[in-house]
Amino acid sequence: MKGLDVEVRDLIKVYRIGKVEVQALRGLDMDVKAGEMIAIIGPSGSGKTTLLNIVGGLDQATGGVVHVGNTEVTALSAVQLVEYRRKMVGHVFQTLNLIPTLTAEENVELPMIASGAPRKHRVERVRELLETVGLTNRAHHKPEELSGGEQQRIAVAAALANDAPVLLADEPTGELDTVNAKIVVDYLMKINRELGKTIIMVTHDPSVARATDRILRIEDGVIKMALTPTEAIAEEKIVSYVDQLRARITEIDPQLNQLDKDFKAGKISGDEYVEKRQGLKQIKDSLREELHRMGIVT
Ligand SMILES: Nc1ncnc2c1ncn2[C@@H]1O[C@H](COP(=O)(O)OP(=O)(O)O)[C@@H](O)[C@H]1O
Ligand SMILES: [Mg+2]
Repeated sequence: MKGLDVEVRDLIKVYRIGKVEVQALRGLDMDVKAGEMIAIIGPSGSGKTTLLNIVGGLDQATGGVVHVGNTEVTALSAVQLVEYRRKMVGHVFQTLNLIPTLTAEENVELPMIASGAPRKHRVERVRELLETVGLTNRAHHKPEELSGGEQQRIAVAAALANDAPVLLADEPTGELDTVNAKIVVDYLMKINRELGKTIIMVTHDPSVARATDRILRIEDGVIKMALTPTEAIAEEKIVSYVDQLRARITEIDPQLNQLDKDFKAGKISGDEYVEKRQGLKQIKDSLREELHRMGIVT
């Protein structure tokens, strides 16, 4: 099934542990279009997993509404949620997606056994999915015989087994090195493009986030900012440029101190001292000016 719209309205989640209340989501709104692939970024504890788990029917909202296509997820009963999780969403986590005693092939087949698909269909679908994630030659391997990146690709195949329109991935590359992270994300993008699935991916990694259509930043349980990947890159560049300017300004003070010391110790002449001091002051002033031009007060 092709992707569906995901619409989140005023989503609230309060966890209660004894008398302590944690507000994980505080009226979060989000719209993801059918066939879109988005990244959710944000600090640890900001509510990313909570959001994904509610959209994925693993956790229940305290308030607010989630629609996936025409399904009002937040109105489903426990029994209906089981069916929803089987048919409507695929979920990939950071680790432990696979059953260690089953082969890659069996792991991909399992969700289809759960949903009662006939054997002939399962065999065909497993073949197709292993091909989609480029692991036909690993069909008979157990998870421990696969690399971390390969395991996550099998997990993605298993998440797609029942042809769910929406794929949720919670830090799917969190445990991987950059090379494997890129391969996994490339396959997610391929699935998004070729199968038209809606993909919502939580990630810490800016280079992973940039591969998507849109980046949403969540802070304290609400979406704080939406960026296109180009804007995200631009923002990062501005930040790093500002950091560089600041770093150069802070480098100048010790140089000025050293100069003062050298002059007092008679190591340099008065003329040299004045000239060098002016030079350094000028650099510092122009760096400051540049920061002011960028709207940053020092
Ligand atoms: N099952 C839970 N019980 C109590 N508090 C929880 C539970 N799950 C998450 N939280 C709290 O909710 C907040 C958001 O958590 P989470 O959604 O896991 O954030 P993220 O995935 O962005 O790191 C955190 O303060 C976290 O401690
Ligand atoms: Mg999380």
